[in-house]
Amino acid sequence: MEDLLFINACVRGERSRTLQLARRFLEIWQQKHPEAVVAQRDLCRDRLSPQYPEVLEKRDALWSAGKLDDPLFAPARQFAAAGRIVIAAPFWDLSFPAILKIYLERISVTGVTFGYDDLGRSVGLCRAEKLLLITTRGGDFSLPEFAWMEMGEPQLKALCAMYGIPSFRCLAAQGLDDVRNDSAAILSRAMAEAEALAETF
Ligand SMILES: Cc1cc2nc3c(=O)[nH]c(=O)nc-3n(C[C@H](O)[C@H](O)[C@H](O)COP(=O)(O)O)c2cc1C
Repeated sequence: MEDLLFINACVRGERSRTLQLARRFLEIWQQKHPEAVVAQRDLCRDRLSPQYPEVLEKRDALWSAGKLDDPLFAPARQFAAAGRIVIAAPFWDLSFPAILKIYLERISVTGVTFGYDDLGRSVGLCRAEKLLLITTRGGDFSLPEFAWMEMGEPQLKALCAMYGIPSFRCLAAQGLDDVRNDSAAILSRAMAEAEALAETF
């Protein structure tokens, strides 16, 4: 059966425009895949702890003992097993909120989401064929003079390569906080894009 893991890093909750966009995408996707199970990981609710020394020490000890079935690695196992992955995260400080970075550190576990072959080359171990990042940005980073400053999308794209997820897409509504823009029109165009993307994801 098809399944989708939805990772929600929308800190503003119900007021989040990114979450609105993600919900529209998921609604259409679920209509297209009525039998599919959508699992949600709400990072504001989960509140995973950062890898402070004692957390890292515990993780290293468990990993060295081969205890990859420990609850500490549950987020990594869930990510590795997902068929489709959607991450919703607003654009913060040129990338994404720290709660998403904490989650990414938690799921990047050798032997679960990625590993190394006999020749020492990195190999991805995730099942998903597609990962979609849904985001909204205050400024417009599609312009060549600003594109290089956008650090969220390239980071997730690179991680997909490491995890062995061949297709990475990003759906972004940009320039929403620029007073010169019609933010309602931008969001509505992004909603239409989300609907179209959900048809084929
Ligand atoms: C803590 C914080 C940091 C932000 N950093 C940036 C930034 O670096 N560049 C930018 O263009 N917009 C920035 N923004 C604006 C958000 O990207 C924009 O308002 C976005 O639509 C918020 O998404 P949301 O409605 O889902 O919360 C920031 C907003 C917040 C709250």
